[in-house]
Amino acid sequence: MFGATGAQGGPVVRQLLARGVEVRAVTRDPRKLDSLFGGGVERATADLGDLAALRTAFRGVDTAFFHLPIPRDLVAVPVHLANVLEAAGQAELSRLVFTTSGISTEQMPSNGFVQASRAAAAAVLASGIPAVVLRPTIYLENLLAPHLVAEMSESGVLRYPPVNPKRRLSWTALEDQAALAIAAMTADGIVGRAIDIASPEALTGNELAARLSVYLGREVRFAPQTPLRFGEEFGRAYDNLALGRGIAELYEAIDQLPPDGAVIAPDPILTALASELTPVSQWIAKQRWVSVVA
Ligand SMILES: NC(=O)c1ccc[n+]([C@@H]2O[C@H](COP(=O)([O-])OP(=O)(O)OC[C@H]3O[C@@H](n4cnc5c(N)ncnc54)[C@H](OP(=O)(O)O)[C@@H]3O)[C@@H](O)[C@H]2O)c1
Repeated sequence: MFGATGAQGGPVVRQLLARGVEVRAVTRDPRKLDSLFGGGVERATADLGDLAALRTAFRGVDTAFFHLPIPRDLVAVPVHLANVLEAAGQAELSRLVFTTSGISTEQMPSNGFVQASRAAAAAVLASGIPAVVLRPTIYLENLLAPHLVAEMSESGVLRYPPVNPKRRLSWTALEDQAALAIAAMTADGIVGRAIDIASPEALTGNELAARLSVYLGREVRFAPQTPLRFGEEFGRAYDNLALGRGIAELYEAIDQLPPDGAVIAPDPILTALASELTPVSQWIAKQRWVSVVA
């Protein structure tokens, strides 16, 4: 399990442990595993840049889940991917589940992020390892960013996602993403495929704002930023202007899709195996919005 200490991998580990599956979690800092999972996981210490450590981490493993970290250093990305595929290739896995971590449907106009996702997905599927690629859409958890919640609570404005108000899109809850990833570890008939995944209930920004209004205790209006402005703010917040420009291009590309191009139909094989997925309205209802503001 790569990224076990992160937003995507954490729920995969917890859901596997709840099913009684033995998990080996890879991290650069094993102390994080204690606070997250107690003694419940086997530890492996490895940086994605360290091929020898990755070989050791894969030894004796049957199934692996992997995603690339936020691409702060674009030079490192292909090296990380090549290292994991080389180490995984020697481990004789029965299945590798790789997630692109973001929307990358066939219809998406190309840009830096989409190109990198497609290249990574192609490399995984051409690796000779029995692999499945998952392509999740935008994470619902992005809505929990403290500045977005504060803006909704204080000004009644939702500026995210930076897309046309008429754009209907599918969101992905991290718990659903984990359930679908676990389904992809064993499902028959999906090896070699790249599968778009999302939680149920595609919404426009106005519909999303209306549902948030109920739980924020005030009317929330959708007033999106332009992708460019969003990317600039993102780049400044993460001290990485290139990353911000890449994110801006990604949202521009989403808005160039055909009207239902960002609406993801459920994959019947994965959804049959996954536990029940959470529609966006239910996910919103389950969050503790007030304490997020505090
Ligand atoms: N679609 C969306 O809406 C959306 C939203 C947010 C993020 N993303 C994407 O999701 C991906 C990040 O996933 P995340 O949010 O789960 O990340 P995260 O919460 O930031 O966690 C990153 C994980 O990657 C591991 N990691 C980072 N660098 C590593 C390295 N050099 N070697 C080994 N492990 C390393 C970390 O492990 P340790 O620190 O324990 O070593 C940690 O478990 C990125 O591609 C990002 O662009 C997409």
